[in-house]
This record gives sequence, structure tokens and C-alpha cells, in this order.
Amino acid sequence: QDDEGIKYVRNLIQPHANFPSEGILFHDIFPALRDPVALEIILNRMAAVVTKRSAVIDYVVGLDARGFLFAPSIASRLHCGFIPIRKKGKLPGKCHTLESTKEYGADILEVQKAGLEPGARVVVVDDLIATGGTLQTSVSLLKAAGAEVVVCVCLVGLPSLGGIAKAGAPVEALIDLE
Ligand code: PRP
Ligand code: MG
Repeated sequence: QDDEGIKYVRNLIQPHANFPSEGILFHDIFPALRDPVALEIILNRMAAVVTKRSAVIDYVVGLDARGFLFAPSIASRLHCGFIPIRKKGKLPGKCHTLESTKEYGADILEVQKAGLEPGARVVVVDDLIATGGTLQTSVSLLKAAGAEVVVCVCLVGLPSLGGIAKAGAPVEALIDLE
């Protein structure tokens, strides 16, 4: 039931077997980002997912690294600020810190305490949800900071891995892949 715009983007996402490790089917989103029409569709649809949920958003939170490809552009469309969640050791000052596991590894994720006020209404943006470990940890970090996660938006979802139920906040993916 994909519409023409989503079909156009879906056809540009390239599967790569056994990357970055044996047994992983990697979905390369960069061919879609290289295409200016697809890029505009992605950013508009991600922003629309948010505005459908809520008119009042304080920050778009992007996840290091591929969430950063989308989050500031969506923040700009929504006229709100951008906040990064980064892998450990990249953010100065006091941070909330949590360990995270994902489909092919583990990370420690951080968000700066400064600038994220309790009660802030935020949305989380990433390129892809696989096991949901990255989103689950990110949502936990934001809740630890007192923020309210309105929705998590991803370009790609892999429903067979069951990540959406784990996230701890509503999740919407523009495109579901096997
Ligand atoms: C990838 C992807 C998501 C995460 C999804 O990030 O960008 O953030 O894995 O996996 P999960 O749902 O199982 O947690 P990764 O850290 O591998 O790469 P990146 O730094 O390029 O974003
Ligand atoms: Mg990532």
C-alpha cells in the first residue's frame, strides 16, 4: 500500500548481504540520499509523521551517526531545535550515559544534560530500526533527562526483528523491509 513517493525511495535502497559482518543483510540508504527527489520525499514524510502526532515539539533528537543525516533538516522544517545523542566520548560537559546493544554490536550512548529541560517534548530520528536496541537506549536516555518522547521516526524498519515493540515510545518507519 506504499504510495508512489515511498515506492520511489524504496527502490533506491540497496541491500548488501554479509555486511558489515557475516549473516547481516545491510540496507544502504545512501543511494536514496544521492537522489534529490528521494531526499526531499524522505525529509517531507519524516516531518509529516511528526506534525501528524503533535503541533508542539521542542527538539528533534538525532542519533549518531546516520540519524544526523535527517534530524537537523527536520528540525528546520518544524522550526524547533536539534539535539544529538552521540556515541561515548564525543560530548563535553555533564551527560546522561547508557549502554546499548544493536543488531551487530554494542555502543555506549550519551546526551548532554545542559539544554534538555525536564518536560521537553522531543522526537527521535534515526535512519533504521533493526533490533530496536539503539532506539530503546535513546528513549531511556531522554526519559532520564525528563523529556517526553512523542514519536521516533526512521526511514527504514525491519519488522522481522521486532524492534518497534522494544523502543518504549511510538515508532514509525517510512519503509518496512525484510
Ligand atoms: C545502525 C543504524 C541504527 C542502528 C539500528 O547504527 O544506523 O542506528 O544500527 O540497529 P538496532 O535497531 O539493532 O539498534 P550504527 O551504529 O551501526 O551505525 P551509524 O553510526 O552509521 O549510525
Ligand atoms: Mg545508527
